[in-house]
Amino acid sequence: MSVFVIDEEKCKKDGICAATCPTMVIEQKEKNTFPTMIEDGEEMCINCGHCMAVCPEQALSLKTMPAEQCPPIRKDWLLSPEQAEHFLRNRRSIRTYKKEPVDKETINRLIEIARYASSGHNAQPVHWHVIWDTDKVHEIAGSIVDWLRTLFEGDFKAFAEEMRLDRAITYWEKGIDVICRGAPHLIIAHGPEADIMAQGASFIALTYLELAAPSFGLGTCWDGMVDMAAMFGAPTMDLIGLPEGHKLCGSMLIGHPKFKYHRFPMRNEPKLTWG
Ligand SMILES: Cc1cc2nc3c(=O)[nH]c(=O)nc-3n(C[C@H](O)[C@H](O)[C@H](O)COP(=O)(O)O)c2cc1C
Repeated sequence: MSVFVIDEEKCKKDGICAATCPTMVIEQKEKNTFPTMIEDGEEMCINCGHCMAVCPEQALSLKTMPAEQCPPIRKDWLLSPEQAEHFLRNRRSIRTYKKEPVDKETINRLIEIARYASSGHNAQPVHWHVIWDTDKVHEIAGSIVDWLRTLFEGDFKAFAEEMRLDRAITYWEKGIDVICRGAPHLIIAHGPEADIMAQGASFIALTYLELAAPSFGLGTCWDGMVDMAAMFGAPTMDLIGLPEGHKLCGSMLIGHPKFKYHRFPMRNEPKLTWG
């Protein structure tokens, strides 16, 4: 059985599936003929599902994507340009959290949404590791502070001074966590060390997650300090415990925001040129 099946009763031979196939493994040899898969097409198909999703007649089915798992697009739920801008501008970095935990089901649902993010060659390389235990998140923050202290004693002293990393240490000593912001949970995206797609895909997937979070009453904040600890190979990585041969590709705090925002802040004008 081929990777796709054409219902010849429904197919209008419009060639849309062939025209939109990213790897051009579907072809319509001549106008007004049924589309077919090229030789070796199955090997080159990236299983993106576009051929099935774009067919206005629902004439093409993929054996990898049962129709019941590919719901139709609800046109009445699509955002107007104003709503899209409002939705995107509503995303905020949240740095003050309630103590109340987020249930695993909700975090799971957000990760389920994030997996629809784009990825090069539809490779979907992102792995997820959730530090759900709040004490462990706190322990990770403490471990990063310990590691920051060592930076002031070694080759990275100038860097640490320039980045004013001493402030994170001073706050920690006063009981204020500016590393993990007292968030109850930490979500980490990771992928195989050799996978050049993993980093970009993780950032996009985490961006999906942070955009979806407010709809669930949740707030998020990227955690560049965890990323930095990973980049430098800090001992914190043993505590995080990613699988052997995997690199950390992005980290995000999550929890119930303590405060609500009432206005959108301004941002710089785009640095734009036209060619
Ligand atoms: C890759 C990345 C790393 C970040 N790291 C941190 C961080 O370590 N701590 C923090 O409080 N905010 C962090 N942020 C959040 C930024 O400071 C924030 O996006 C910026 O101030 C704009 O605010 P907004 O996200 O609410 O628009 C990070 C953001 C990104 C994209």
